[in-house]
Formats: sequence, structure tokens, C-alpha cells
Amino acid sequence: MEHLIAPSLLSADFSNLIKDITMVNQSEADWFHLDVMDGVFVPNISFGIPVIKHIKTHATKPLDVHLMIVDPDRYFADFKNAGADIITVHYEACTHLDRSIAAIKSLGMKAGVVLNPHTSVLLIENVIKEVDVVLLMSVNPGFGGQKFIENTYRKVYQLKEMIVQSESKALIEIDGGVDLINAPKLIEAGADVLVAGNTIFGSANPMDSISKLKHFSE
Ligand code: DX5
Ligand code: ZN
Repeated sequence: MEHLIAPSLLSADFSNLIKDITMVNQSEADWFHLDVMDGVFVPNISFGIPVIKHIKTHATKPLDVHLMIVDPDRYFADFKNAGADIITVHYEACTHLDRSIAAIKSLGMKAGVVLNPHTSVLLIENVIKEVDVVLLMSVNPGFGGQKFIENTYRKVYQLKEMIVQSESKALIEIDGGVDLINAPKLIEAGADVLVAGNTIFGSANPMDSISKLKHFSE
């Protein structure tokens, strides 16, 4: 499978969001990655349901909604109504993870689990066949533009092995500090989806950066 690119709008220009949404629509990107932060699970507050509803009216690609919030189950139906296609929840925020995954899927969305850098992939062995996506955080969540944590490669290998062994269909998504140097190594290790914020929106030519992440061309 050709790998997927999911630009993170956290680093987009929120005073002119339509410009960046249009750019992503016209680019080779595959998903919109939307980071929802509550100021409790992570030390930052971003945006929520009303903003996603507006993004949905312009976006022509699936919305991958990354929930960095406590007790996310309270809002699954609201995110569905706002236009979410994929919802990922943190392992660290879900006491009843199996129930949360089932609830997301019962609303007709794809479900994923996110692991913080310190969380072992072995902990999701019992839900690996239930999830559509496993998102490995390659920075501590909360902010864009942080430095990539090298231990992520080891987790990708381990997770890939688990997915193959269990015949799971889960995609491996990587989020945080992804750039043109580590991107090919991550794909080589077994990643399927690369999230990128700063590498895309912090560059002089975002559309070209998406293309480079997609094809690893110079
Ligand atoms: C961090 C978010 C990321 C962030 C990635 O908590 O989950 O999606 O936007 O930004 P970069 O690619 O700049 O590290
Ligand atoms: Zn994210």
C-alpha cells in the first residue's frame, strides 16, 4: 500500500483557514488531521466541534480527528455529527478502551487508539484486531513543532510484528516531528500514515512539502 499523508491543521493559519483547507484539497494529501485538546489531558487547548463542522463544509478528504481529551466517549456522537470520519482516542485517557472503540465504530466511523511515547505497544494486544488505526505519538502530545523521539522506530517494528501476527488490518500512523529525513525511515519500518504539521505549514511551499512527503523526492 502506498503510504498516506495527513496534514495537521494545528499549524495552519486560523485567520485564513479556507486557504489552507483548499491547499490540502488540491494537494496529494490523503486525510485532514485535526487535533482536539482540552487543556486537561494535554497542557494546551486547541479547537473543538464547531470548528470541525466548518472545516467539514470545505474539506474534500476524510477528517482524522485526534482526541487529546479526558473521557472522550461523551462526545463521539457530536464529532460524528460535525463530520469526523476517523476518531482516535488515547489509551491513557480511556478506562474502558474496548467499549470506546466499539462506540466509535457503532456510529459508522473508523476507530483508532493513540499511544503516548512512554506507552508500550504490548498494552494494546487485546484490541489490535478491533482497531482500524494505531497512532504512535512520536512527541509528547500538546504542541506542534516538537522534536521527533527516536525510540518511535522500535515501536513501529514491534507494532508491525503484532499486526502481522494477529492478522489485524490496523494502519500504523505516526504523529509528531515528522520531517523529510525521518519520513522514509518510518515508512521503511512499517508506518502507513504520516501526520505532519510544521514540516508542511512551516515551509515556503506547503503543497510541494506534501508531495515530497508522499514521494520522498528532493
Ligand atoms: C501534537 C499533535 C500533532 C501536531 C504535529 O500533540 O498531535 O498532530 O500537530 O505537529 P508537528 O508535525 O509540527 O510535530
Ligand atoms: Zn495529532
